[in-house]
Amino acid sequence: MFERFEVINPDAILMLMAAYRADPDPRKVDLGIGVYRDGRGHTPVLEAVRRAEADLIARQVTKTYVGAAGNPDFNREMEQLVFGSGHPALAAQRLKSVQTPGGCGALCLGAELIRLAAPDAVVHVSTPTWANHPPLIAGSGLKLEYYPYFDARTGGVQFGAMMGALERLAPRTVVLLHASCHNPTGADLSQDEWRALLELVKRRSLLPFLDMAYQGLGEGVDADAFAVRLFCAELPEALVAVSCSKNFGLYRERTGSLHVLNDTPKAADATLSQLVRLARGIWSMPPDHGAEIARLILADAALREQWLGEVAGMRERIAKLRRAALAELRRACPQRDFSFIGRQRGMFSFLGISGEQVRALRGEHHVYMTDDSRINIAGLREENLAYFADAVAKVL
Ligand code: LMR
Repeated sequence: MFERFEVINPDAILMLMAAYRADPDPRKVDLGIGVYRDGRGHTPVLEAVRRAEADLIARQVTKTYVGAAGNPDFNREMEQLVFGSGHPALAAQRLKSVQTPGGCGALCLGAELIRLAAPDAVVHVSTPTWANHPPLIAGSGLKLEYYPYFDARTGGVQFGAMMGALERLAPRTVVLLHASCHNPTGADLSQDEWRALLELVKRRSLLPFLDMAYQGLGEGVDADAFAVRLFCAELPEALVAVSCSKNFGLYRERTGSLHVLNDTPKAADATLSQLVRLARGIWSMPPDHGAEIARLILADAALREQWLGEVAGMRERIAKLRRAALAELRRACPQRDFSFIGRQRGMFSFLGISGEQVRALRGEHHVYMTDDSRINIAGLREENLAYFADAVAKVL
């Protein structure tokens, strides 16, 4: 059956991760895979996670299944984190939540739910979008289209073009939106733009699918959830995919959640039953370890406080690195405008250099970024900022 298979490459981000690991040069700089790194270049286990994990290991008495929807207490804590306490859709019992294996599991389950409801649904994603969005969405059999998003001239969002394209969509079209810290560009909508987009979504009866993988790493835990909270307070239906990989540093534990907003509590109950059936058919039950750690942190005032402090620390370090990278690039490449780096949010920015220049950076200077010139700002370190900026100057 498999004799016709040909060897294919893993996706660009995974290939880059392997190439970086194999490079023995001590000067190498990893701006590829989107993981947070501290000043020593490590992706640390957060202290709050370490404490919750120790507690979990000391107290866990069973490894029996948690159920297809995951741990209800984790789902409740995630609802509070994502939507804020007292959110009207939660109070109205119109929001239902399912624990998923990471944000990818949430995106996959959301896509399966959409396909179940509307097999011909078309999902529109931003140009560009995260490299794994197309395979995740199209993998469920849904059709994928693109709307204009990034403005390479300004490093911001082409908001007019985006709104123009979305205005032409048929009712019930799905629009995938990055709630904050857009991956790969770092260019986010302003709050006024989100409000205008909400009006368009209402007017055109579109279905928003919000992907929130970086809550807390842009402006703040609450500020980054602005769009999610606004849309779910005002619309009849929406989907929200959430990842705990970056803000809890739980990457390999595959921890996330899918939240689905329905028009009525009755519809919400029916949707939840469908989600449970779908999840059961794909992964049966989600992994528990990371979710239990996140739950313990969110449910305990002291651990939560510590975690919020650590998230703030990561956010502030990224913001500081943005300012420092910009200063170094200005010094090394005075002829080029990189000011957008200071305006963008979250882990990523597009450097705006050619594929050839990216490959020269990798081949000649051991600086790794994806071919579209996405850089993970958190991969920079104070001591290699000058090396990085000089390398960029050399390839320009
Ligand atoms: C990234 O964009 O680099 C991260 O979200 C990691 C991944 O899985 O691609």
